[in-house]
Amino acid sequence: MTTFDVLTIGNAIVDIIARCDDAFLSSNGIIKSAMNLIDAERAELLYSRMGPAVEASGGSAGNTAAGVASLGGRAAYFGKVSNDQLGAIFDHDIKAQGVHFATRPLDGVPPTARSMIFVTPDGERSMNTYLGACVELGPEDVEPDVVAAAKVTYFEGYLWDPPRAKDAIRDAARIAHANGREVAMTLSDSFCVHRYREEFLDLMRSGTVDIVFANRSELLALYETEDFEAALGRIAGDCRLAAVTMSEDGSIVVRGADRVPVDAIPVARVVDTTGAGDLYAAGFLFGYTSGRSLADCGRLGSLAAGIVIEQIGPRPMQSLKDAARAAGLL
Ligand SMILES: Nc1ncnc2c1ncn2[C@@H]1O[C@H](COP(=O)(O)OP(=O)(O)OP(=O)(O)O)[C@@H](O)[C@H]1O
Ligand SMILES: [Mg+2]
Repeated sequence: MTTFDVLTIGNAIVDIIARCDDAFLSSNGIIKSAMNLIDAERAELLYSRMGPAVEASGGSAGNTAAGVASLGGRAAYFGKVSNDQLGAIFDHDIKAQGVHFATRPLDGVPPTARSMIFVTPDGERSMNTYLGACVELGPEDVEPDVVAAAKVTYFEGYLWDPPRAKDAIRDAARIAHANGREVAMTLSDSFCVHRYREEFLDLMRSGTVDIVFANRSELLALYETEDFEAALGRIAGDCRLAAVTMSEDGSIVVRGADRVPVDAIPVARVVDTTGAGDLYAAGFLFGYTSGRSLADCGRLGSLAAGIVIEQIGPRPMQSLKDAARAAGLL
């Protein structure tokens, strides 16, 4: 059996990306910078109002798996698509990146998930996600041998939105820990944290999750505070390791009483922030599973994230391995 560095589990989504101005967001009731959940009818409506768009495979954890593979790591992914055109695109892209992906697709109903992503002139992304086939991900989609063979199993907090994915995660975490592996999660989105705060805290405090990724607003939402320092102190007590990202201010890695500050890389022009957090997690976990220091894990995260925000779409179009070598990180 191959050993995987990182297995990721998430909502398998194809992104439909277009530019808009801030007025478009407010007149359409879209919460800026958030992941807005929408139904099929609203998806039709927003698409009819959307300007010329490009399609690209996405899904938070899928982007992280692709990032790990682009760095030269061995990655696997579980996520549910349907047998349709968007499903074929998702399947092609993740496999072409070298990621193991064998989750059984649905027969076309509901269709593959899509997220209409509106990018404002400041580079911020506002997502509108129709979950489609993702609602069918369940325990039957967990490949036990893959979980057992993965150094880290990483999943999205977004998986608490569909009904049965959380059962799959609990099973996967049990298998991972029974095999001496580690489990990581991302808090995903501050509104998602508000929806599932108690459950996310329980995942951490029960030891189901060892490593947590969060951005600033997600961390503050988790502890219902505006005091960032206090929140850092609390997450240090609730999980073994946390990496908290702060956009252009970089990130801070927290382990017990240790705090490791990490700089962001200078970015000439922020084109589209979609995937920044996902690629940070990819770089960090690639470093972590290859035994690097926490500072170097953070630097690899900053590099991968910095590269993806200089382009449209959430998956890097250049080799991250080459970029990391050029930056002296590999
Ligand atoms: N303007 C920027 N300049 C340089 N690096 C950035 C910038 N914005 C983000 N990054 C990098 O990306 C990482 C993650 O960014 P951020 O904290 O915004 O996460 P996020 O909100 O989860 O991102 P997203 O959800 O949009 O993917 C940061 O730690 C940093 O390394
Ligand atoms: Mg994020």
